[in-house]
Amino acid sequence: MREHGPSRFVAPLAAMLHDQLARAFPDFARIEDKRLRDAVVDQWRYVSECNPIHTDLDRIPAHPSLPVERYGSLAAHIRAQMAVSQTLVPTYAKEWDIHLSLDHFLACALVHDSAKVIEFVEQDGTLIATPGFDHAYEGAKIALQVGFPREVAHMISVHTYLGAKRLPRTAAAQLFQFLDPICLPVFPETGKSAVERHLEANKWVAPPPPEDLP
Ligand SMILES: [Fe+2]
Ligand SMILES: [Fe+2]
Repeated sequence: MREHGPSRFVAPLAAMLHDQLARAFPDFARIEDKRLRDAVVDQWRYVSECNPIHTDLDRIPAHPSLPVERYGSLAAHIRAQMAVSQTLVPTYAKEWDIHLSLDHFLACALVHDSAKVIEFVEQDGTLIATPGFDHAYEGAKIALQVGFPREVAHMISVHTYLGAKRLPRTAAAQLFQFLDPICLPVFPETGKSAVERHLEANKWVAPPPPEDLP
């Protein structure tokens, strides 16, 4: 990965990527803070420059082992998170007087998995995930470089649900962590569940459940 600061993009290129993102993610425009919208564009440009093989947002899978045709694209995962966030955030305000930033949830959804663009590489014509690459941690580091506030970088860094580095320190990070596997149609009826996959990705091995567990 590149180790320098945020790129200074020439305006036409930045505008082009902004249009692509706005087309793929209609709720992008709901982010009120322009600095966050700009940071989203900068983060996607950063990862695209690191690994230019991904040219179509709707062809990037959530994981190489989850074909887009069956499980939907990474973009669908992100759109789902943006949709659920728009219910989740007002619900916490209404029911528990807990006020979260919808801007932060929408922006975090848009970039939390963006480092997968770097992680997913081609080997002998097949897309594979780079072993040992921590897309949450790497994504959070890029987020800080392109100007996201620390609160959003923290949400990104712990978003993958389980694992030693995954303890959330804020309500927003905890809720975003739970939101991640909800927005993925990967269920135990058809193979490994989203929970099991996350456990394995974080090198956790759970003992089998007791036989009398319903
Ligand atoms: Fe992720
Ligand atoms: Fe995700």
